[in-house]
Amino acid sequence: MSQNESNNEGKKGFSRRSFLHGVGIGGGAAVGLSKELLAAPQTGSGARVVGPGPVRVSLKINGRVHNLEIEPRVTLLDALRNRLDITGAKKVCDRATCGACTAIINGRAVYSCTTLAIDAQGKDIQTIEGFTTPAKMHAVSAAFVENDAQQCGFCTPGFVVAAKAFLDRHANPTMADVNRGLGGNLCRCGTYIGVRQAVLDAAREMRGGRRA
Ligand code: FES
Ligand code: FES
Repeated sequence: MSQNESNNEGKKGFSRRSFLHGVGIGGGAAVGLSKELLAAPQTGSGARVVGPGPVRVSLKINGRVHNLEIEPRVTLLDALRNRLDITGAKKVCDRATCGACTAIINGRAVYSCTTLAIDAQGKDIQTIEGFTTPAKMHAVSAAFVENDAQQCGFCTPGFVVAAKAFLDRHANPTMADVNRGLGGNLCRCGTYIGVRQAVLDAAREMRGGRRA
């Protein structure tokens, strides 16, 4: 995201960066969510400390509950890909820069590479597998195909997820809005023109209009 985009965040209220906040980045996994946590000793600050060994973590992903035994340090992205074989979200930068790992938590796009799985408990997690399939494509996916908005395709799932989260909150965006709204996702192949047009077309389709 450019400095200009960053400066505009507060004015528009919907920049990608503003809602691409991981729900837990780094730091100790100090949350009170499971029985293990309730039994865990407390630190001087009152925060409950778990780990470093595996603990039970329950994640609701695409409407289905998955129970895992994972270390508290495991990110949502690694839990999805390595433990649950839900591989739509990609690991590229692994440091909250590119958006290839984008997932939706409680309606907001997040970088799953910097969201701890344990912190995503009790929340509604959506991945690309949850709303679009080759047999029944979501309007965003269909618009990406029609606009040739991918080359190698590695960034594409992240863009599609980010675009869906954006359009669910902003039904009638301008091109400038889309530029700002998807500012947290990068494409090394440079497919930005097709991506932006695809998002505008999908917005029209989702509003019940016809794509141009
Ligand atoms: S892999 Fe998460 S932002 Fe790049
Ligand atoms: S299509 Fe290759 S990185 Fe975006």
